Amino acid sequence: MARVAVVTGGTRGIGEAISVALRDAGLNVAANYAGNEEKARAFTERTGIRSYQWDVSDFDACVAGCARVAQELGPIDVLVNNAGITRDATMKRMTRQMWDEVLDVNLGGCFNMAQAVFQGMQDRKFGRIVNIGSINGQAGQYGQVNYAAAKSGIHGFTKALAQEGARGGVTVNAIAPGYIDTEMVAAVPEEVLAKIVARIPVGRLGRADEIARGVLFLCSDDGGFITGSTLSINGGQHMY
Ligand code: CAA
Repeated sequence: MARVAVVTGGTRGIGEAISVALRDAGLNVAANYAGNEEKARAFTERTGIRSYQWDVSDFDACVAGCARVAQELGPIDVLVNNAGITRDATMKRMTRQMWDEVLDVNLGGCFNMAQAVFQGMQDRKFGRIVNIGSINGQAGQYGQVNYAAAKSGIHGFTKALAQEGARGGVTVNAIAPGYIDTEMVAAVPEEVLAKIVARIPVGRLGRADEIARGVLFLCSDDGGFITGSTLSINGGQHMY
């Protein structure tokens, strides 16, 4: 039977590419989205992949959402924690709300989703969890104390959970994308982005499918000995 995967934030940007790559590899994919109904409907029409609405920062919604996926598609074997938001501002202008929103979605979402699926994966002796971190969690970024803290937290979360999952056949890894050509990166002011791209040795933004291929590898059966690792896919912008 096909393995079942849940991709959070799976209907747009990097998440869409991950959903499609897992589907193409034969998995039964549930793409979660937070609120953009119109984009999710278009995604499902385009790809045939089912989309499921819930807010990853809401613990109970994650538990209920995963239960619904399990009922409709089967037990969840693969979780990709991809959902993420930015609320960029320098410290002077960053409000407590901007901090909370980013921490709750980007990092809290990883906990909520893992809590909903981890025990089941251990019981069935197979699981793959891939958390999408960021170059900015590794290196920091001007105007992103909230996002950098959350993404850096994801890298620690990954290494800790990997230790708990290892004996039960559950691998937990992270990918740290650099600047990828998505709506999120397009929202960075043009002149700021131009300066960032100038510092990427490969000389261009990354593509969402280049991140998806990394996720696919970590989720495969061949990835069974890789756990607690971070795969940087950033065009050489930060060598960690
Ligand atoms: N280092 C040092 N100084 C910097 C700087 C940097 N990296 N970036 C800007 N500054 C300086 C500017 O030169 C400016 O100085 P002056 O006032 O002397 O001219 C000052 O800081 C203020 O800069 P801005 O005019 O840009 O300030 P702002 O308040 O209008 O905007 C900001 C601040 C919102 C943080 C804006 O700079 C910004 O959006 N930066 C991009 C942040 C970024 O890279 N976000 C990534 C989003 S995508 C993502 O996160 C995906 C992923 O995982 C990679």
